[in-house]
Amino acid sequence: MEKFLKQGKRKAVGNLHSMPALRCIKFEDNTLHLLDQRILPTHTAWIAHSDHIQVAESIRNMTVRGAPAIGVAAAYGMALAALNQADWSQAKQTLAESRPTAVNLFWALDRLDALTDKSPESVLAEAQAIEAEDLSMNHKIGESGATLVPEEATVLTICNTGSLATAGHGTALGIIRTAHQQGKVKHVYSCETRPRQQGLRLTAFELLHDKIPFHSIADSAAASLMRAGKIDFVVAGADRITANGDTANKIGTYMLAVLAHHHNIPFVIAAPSSTLDPNLPTGDHIPIEERDSTELTHAESIQIAPDNCPVYNPAFDVTPGTLITAIVTEQGILTPPFNIK
Ligand code: MRU
Repeated sequence: MEKFLKQGKRKAVGNLHSMPALRCIKFEDNTLHLLDQRILPTHTAWIAHSDHIQVAESIRNMTVRGAPAIGVAAAYGMALAALNQADWSQAKQTLAESRPTAVNLFWALDRLDALTDKSPESVLAEAQAIEAEDLSMNHKIGESGATLVPEEATVLTICNTGSLATAGHGTALGIIRTAHQQGKVKHVYSCETRPRQQGLRLTAFELLHDKIPFHSIADSAAASLMRAGKIDFVVAGADRITANGDTANKIGTYMLAVLAHHHNIPFVIAAPSSTLDPNLPTGDHIPIEERDSTELTHAESIQIAPDNCPVYNPAFDVTPGTLITAIVTEQGILTPPFNIK
């Protein structure tokens, strides 16, 4: 296995709010630029990557995160490998070892592996196609998914599934965006998303950017909001969806699905077809990533737990397909019983 090397150079840029549309991935001049999501929203910097090993490290350390964005970044990682004439199989393996749960990573790597022409031009063109297709799929997901959102809806979501998690627009957040543009969304409640707080840091940033009315909430506030009748619709993204509709997504998603079921609230999953894994029959087969204990024991760099506190930190959970009202992909709306092919 190739060793992860130090990351590329970090470069400060201007205020993201002044940009026309949020983006987290740019490929220019044979260099992959990734917006550093570990320091958003208080700091803005792009990290330049000139080889696939740096890209693998940025996926592992979550400079780039979100299933579709990971797939796009990995595709550009392979384009860099081709440009640098690195060993193809070794580069593919290095990228494949960066994170285990989001199937988009393996989907993108397999798609590039299937190219008969692996010249740098051809691999780069395919990576660009993967990025462009993701953006277009997200707009379609937004349009279909918005038809499920009730008028004047208060919507609950978790993690970050927007432009910062994809090539643009987003999946679950894409549905919220489109439904909001159609005047259907009255308010959003965005779960903080412990322990890495993608909701508080990134979704709040995107909702502010789009001027969508919202409150960030502690994850543990979701139940009482539902009980109070304040949630009309729950929508979440996915990292992997198996043949029977079981869905791996950010830890805490399953809890929301159980709560939504109890309170009779629609619970919808949004994902592009690159997130489907029909090869796995059920969610029991999905590898669930466990991350470092410091994500819980430390707030930024300050220790908040006792020394040697034992920690269990799974990054994802699996929501059974039986708790999901609908799965929205770019191909349309699937309803139970799911039989994904
Ligand atoms: O650990 P992360 O931040 O990569 O987890 C992200 C999620 O769980 C998202 O909900 C999922 O990848 C879908 S993003 C469109």
